[in-house]
Amino acid sequence: MAGDRGSGDVAEKAVGEIDGDLYRKVLGRYPTGVTLVTAMDGEDPVAMVIGSFVSVSMDPPLVGFLPGKESYTWGRMSSSKGFCVNVLSDTQTDLSNAFFRKDSDPWEGSGWQPAEVTGSPAIPSCLASIDCMVREVVDAGDHWFVMGEVVAVSHVDEGSPLVFLGGKYGNYRAHD
Ligand SMILES: Cc1cc2nc3c(=O)[nH]c(=O)nc-3n(C[C@H](O)[C@H](O)[C@H](O)COP(=O)(O)O)c2cc1C
Repeated sequence: MAGDRGSGDVAEKAVGEIDGDLYRKVLGRYPTGVTLVTAMDGEDPVAMVIGSFVSVSMDPPLVGFLPGKESYTWGRMSSSKGFCVNVLSDTQTDLSNAFFRKDSDPWEGSGWQPAEVTGSPAIPSCLASIDCMVREVVDAGDHWFVMGEVVAVSHVDEGSPLVFLGGKYGNYRAHD
């Protein structure tokens, strides 16, 4: 249908063996939300900025995310039996950057609290927190697919989600 796809002129394509730059460019046309997936490593709170969060099943309630196999942070989280997904709002770019860059202590001033069931850090200023028990960790190429059973949830009514597209943060805007 006209208008479905920009001008309709394909800029680049590949079939079979796909070059890494093109692969990243193509996948970068798909937006994600931004979450902080948290867990406890002993006494220490740890968190990863995660865009690959996905809702998997309603009944039973299952969600998932994909940490890279090389991730140092996932290495620290992986022995935990639970994790908490904190959904960032479009006013929380600085918080996302703080956890991504880890220049100074990103937890300071976050007001995090242990989530009710798993004790993983829940950040009250986020749009939603989804507390999960790890159900399965599946091999997924250079990532793991971590599936969790949702055991507690909370959300606030105000605010709009932070969006990530093509390496940049942005806002969500509903159609009129
Ligand atoms: C918006 C955004 C989304 C991200 N999503 C993921 C993701 O889904 N999976 C992943 O492994 N890393 C993701 N990352 C990168 C991780 O946050 C982190 O930088 C990476 O795990 C390497 O850091 P580490 O080795 O210190 O853990 C994302 C980063 C940003 C800024």
